[in-house]
Amino acid sequence: MALLPTLILCLSILSPSIVAVKIPQDPNPQPLSWWKEEVIYQIYPRSHQDSDGDGIGDLEGIISRLDHFVELGIGAVWLSPIYKSPMKDMGYDISNFTDIEPVFGTIETFKRMAAGLKERGIRLVMDFVPNHSSDQHPWFNMSAQRIEPYTEYYVWKDPSGFDDEGKPIPPNNWVSLFGGSMWEYNEVRGQFYLHQFLKEQPDLNFESRQLRNEILAVFKIWLDYGVDGFRVDAVPHLFEDQEFPDEEENPNRPPEIPETDYAYWMHRHTYNLPGVFDALAEMRQLLDIYTLSDGKERVMMVEATVAPPALFEYYGTKEKPIAHFPFNFDLIGIPSGYNAENVERVMSLWYNNLPEGAWANMLSSNHDNKRVPSRYTEEAIDFFNMMVLLLPANAVSYYGEEIGMSNANISWEDTTDEFACAAGPDRYHLFSRDPSRTPMQWDDSDKAGFSTANKTWLPVHPDYVDVNVAAQKASTGNTHLSIYKRLMQLRHTDVWRYGSLETNSIEENKVFGFSRIFNDKGFIVLSNTVDEAVTVNAATQFEGIPATATVYVVSVGFQPETAVGSSVSTNSIVIGPKHSIVVEF
Ligand SMILES: *[C@@H]1O[C@H](CO)[C@@H](O)[C@H](O)[C@H]1NC(C)=O
Ligand SMILES: *[C@@H]1O[C@H](CO)[C@@H](O)[C@H](O)[C@H]1NC(C)=O
Ligand SMILES: *[C@@H]1O[C@H](CO)[C@@H](O)[C@H](O)[C@H]1NC(C)=O
Ligand SMILES: *[C@@H]1O[C@H](CO)[C@@H](O)[C@H](O)[C@H]1NC(C)=O
Ligand SMILES: *[C@@H]1O[C@H](CO)[C@@H](O)[C@H](O)[C@H]1NC(C)=O
Repeated sequence: MALLPTLILCLSILSPSIVAVKIPQDPNPQPLSWWKEEVIYQIYPRSHQDSDGDGIGDLEGIISRLDHFVELGIGAVWLSPIYKSPMKDMGYDISNFTDIEPVFGTIETFKRMAAGLKERGIRLVMDFVPNHSSDQHPWFNMSAQRIEPYTEYYVWKDPSGFDDEGKPIPPNNWVSLFGGSMWEYNEVRGQFYLHQFLKEQPDLNFESRQLRNEILAVFKIWLDYGVDGFRVDAVPHLFEDQEFPDEEENPNRPPEIPETDYAYWMHRHTYNLPGVFDALAEMRQLLDIYTLSDGKERVMMVEATVAPPALFEYYGTKEKPIAHFPFNFDLIGIPSGYNAENVERVMSLWYNNLPEGAWANMLSSNHDNKRVPSRYTEEAIDFFNMMVLLLPANAVSYYGEEIGMSNANISWEDTTDEFACAAGPDRYHLFSRDPSRTPMQWDDSDKAGFSTANKTWLPVHPDYVDVNVAAQKASTGNTHLSIYKRLMQLRHTDVWRYGSLETNSIEENKVFGFSRIFNDKGFIVLSNTVDEAVTVNAATQFEGIPATATVYVVSVGFQPETAVGSSVSTNSIVIGPKHSIVVEF
């Protein structure tokens, strides 16, 4: 599920001072867990590949594209939700947690897809949305009728009173993420139920032991199908203050927003309450039992839009581990018009504050946020891939990042995102996540090779004619795809696995760079973040850099032209406006 990007993501930008990052090389190199080294590729199933001509991507489509993953060198895929759903919130409203939505396929298709991935040595991570179900879920129906054991599976409260017309008044003033009251009255039960999201998405009640056991049973079913882990969605919303007090107005809200907007209010009583850690620790325990049984590590990643260092609580402790990692949204939070200092701030925030033994993670976009070229400029595409793939961290790539896809301009008529629809034709564009969910651009044929339908569920981005997998594969030049693959090769080296890390904002904050060195071999990434050429003296600003190095890869259109494989003096590397380079030694 989503966050309201403007609301939550700016938090870390306000955070404390920058301390340059200096981490020594690993003194005791050991093989890394798969989830640390392998890149996890996020598929948005509706937009990956349509096999049956209905204009919507499906699992059979994913099966037909498995070799793309092999070509990229990724090690795992993470599927956004494919569970049975009335699709009020694009699959985040689940009506059966153990069945596949027919639009995507069947359990049989799922098993063939999982087998196809396994044959290619690629792991599979499932999305999991624990905190609410669809109102079409049979549990909800039985809960409304107070049929045991379902009675307390959802959060039910009596009305706080009745108005002059005898209509029930909600228990308190809580406002949902989609706007309007967080409470909906149910005639059958004669009580209100809580929905932090849409009214069609009643919140599950994690205070109920029986509900928690039910959710663990769902996990087991998927683990028994052989999945390698879960990405647990929107966990901070799992618990509510059991006193149900009113929320207060948010003093830092953006100006001129109505009080029916989520951002108008503080969310002290429904967001990031402590119970969430216990519930997640139980899920993690279950994964660890599977891991211990056969030695194959199952991974749990969580989406919690909480700013570090509070976010780091989601790692848990050695005694009570929680997530393998909570997603790092801070690269996404770097403001447009980014400079080297903003980037260095994120490095400092993460690498200088990570708990003992924790592993960082990097991602540069996802299904809820703008893609990199649309947040910044075209030139940022390769730089962000360099950071995601070469920093010592787990890496998640969102589909299309390998070819530099941008956000599309989606009209009100074509809008499908429920957040946007709820906001209406004048404000939809402030909320819509459709622009970053358009179909994968495979080739330059009609509908970009995604579908044979006349109309796809979201329009294909018009730039597909130039920006597509086939064109970049066929090109003998430097493309986002060829760069991505070269970065991937560098990732699978001991320098990447065990090397030191030094990050720095240099040349009057015009250039951001980081070096990785292991036993005197290494590389350095340098990115010019300003609109003028800069001559960089890396040799004096980073430790352990030799006088000369070899160009390993350069960003698309790199100026002045520098051949990959040529030698450069590390005390004077000229980098054109907004361009980036990796040199090795
Ligand atoms: C969910 O679907 C599965 C597979 O079709 C079925 O066996 C199960 O009974 C369903 N669960 C619920 C709660 O409806
Ligand atoms: C429960 O399901 C029955 C049959 O599908 C339906 O008639 C009824 O309205 C549902 N009740 C609730 C509370 O949704
Ligand atoms: C938690 O539950 C709320 C209410 O249903 C839902 O809107 C939200 O998406 C859920 N959060 C996550 C992270 O699943
Ligand atoms: C986006 O589309 C709208 C109409 O659908 C149009 O008015 C607007 O100019 C477009 N913007 C861009 C940047 O193409
Ligand atoms: C697509 O459009 C063409 C021309 O309008 C029409 O002949 C064809 O039947 C349509 N195909 C589908 C699958 O709707």
